[in-house]
Amino acid sequence: MEEKILEVNDLSVSFSGGVQAVSDVSFDLRRGEAFALVGESGCGKSTTARAILRLIRSPGRITGGQVRFEGRDLLELSSKEMSQVRGREIGMIFQNPLDSLNPVYTIGGQVTEGLVVDRMEKREAWRLAADMFRDVKIPDAEKRMKSYPHEISGGMRQRVMIGMMLCRHPKLLIADEPTTALDVTIQAGIIELMNDLRRKYDTAVLMITHDFGIVADMADRVGVMYAGKLVELGDVYTIFDRPLHPYTRMLMKALPVITKKEGRLATIPGTVPDLSKPVKGCRFADRCPDACGICRGAAPALTECQPGHLCACHKEKGGGAHV
Ligand SMILES: Nc1ncnc2c1ncn2[C@@H]1O[C@H](COP(=O)(O)OP(=O)(O)OP(=O)(O)O)[C@@H](O)[C@H]1O
Ligand SMILES: [Mg+2]
Repeated sequence: MEEKILEVNDLSVSFSGGVQAVSDVSFDLRRGEAFALVGESGCGKSTTARAILRLIRSPGRITGGQVRFEGRDLLELSSKEMSQVRGREIGMIFQNPLDSLNPVYTIGGQVTEGLVVDRMEKREAWRLAADMFRDVKIPDAEKRMKSYPHEISGGMRQRVMIGMMLCRHPKLLIADEPTTALDVTIQAGIIELMNDLRRKYDTAVLMITHDFGIVADMADRVGVMYAGKLVELGDVYTIFDRPLHPYTRMLMKALPVITKKEGRLATIPGTVPDLSKPVKGCRFADRCPDACGICRGAAPALTECQPGHLCACHKEKGGGAHV
């Protein structure tokens, strides 16, 4: 069994108004592995990613759990220690790279800044950044480094972000819908690029996406989230071949109608329950075609149905019978 680089145990996050955005989420990532977190809008994917990086803003709060990164519990680190983990050991890419790039500095300046923080000499940092720009296939790398973020296209900016993160050789890259704002062909190029770089640097990736196409192109394992909980987890082949949770099945059926432009799923009837109210039974019961009495009475636990394949559904535990 390969070494685990990240272990998330029973992570819970709440926002004001009692919104329980993430409830007891547990999963792990092995070195170099790509793990995709999928689910509809509002299921808690971004909140999970932000909690791992301790980027939940008050009054939002991590209310429980552990995030172990290479054995250290990130939730126990001081803010200073945590800021050293961010960027250097765990890279992050968000949906809109303009949010992460500073408009008043050249992109080359921003990339080298991180390296200089890591105590690299400035000229060496510039050379390494130029190499990385070539790696992320930015044409005319040296010249582009002198451009400002608004002078390059969205796809290029996202390449810059990826390059900027990978320059520092993080062991884990968290990518929250990095291609949703881009058009389909550019999106495919970015995914290919991330796969190449992942192989080259053996970086583990936590990928957050709505798009099962991206999951198929990239992920080794998949976690499906619904209403703040993980409802299914398994390797990518198993999840595609034999999805067990009715929600996963419905999500996958919705695949052909993902609107590429917005990346949103539009076709599962009903909505995610109000996360500010306690839910007694299974959170998916109101939308589930197979729901019955027990589903409304008790919440199903995430249970291993086959080695490495976990599902939180009353039906699955009893091998098909309701228990
Ligand atoms: N800063 C915040 N303050 C209050 N509630 C929040 C905040 N951020 C997220 N939430 C709530 O937490 C829940 C989970 O949101 P989150 O952004 O994690 O979902 P998501 O799965 O990433 O959705 P999307 O696919 O739309 O990005 C939602 O109910 C959302 O309204
Ligand atoms: Mg999100």
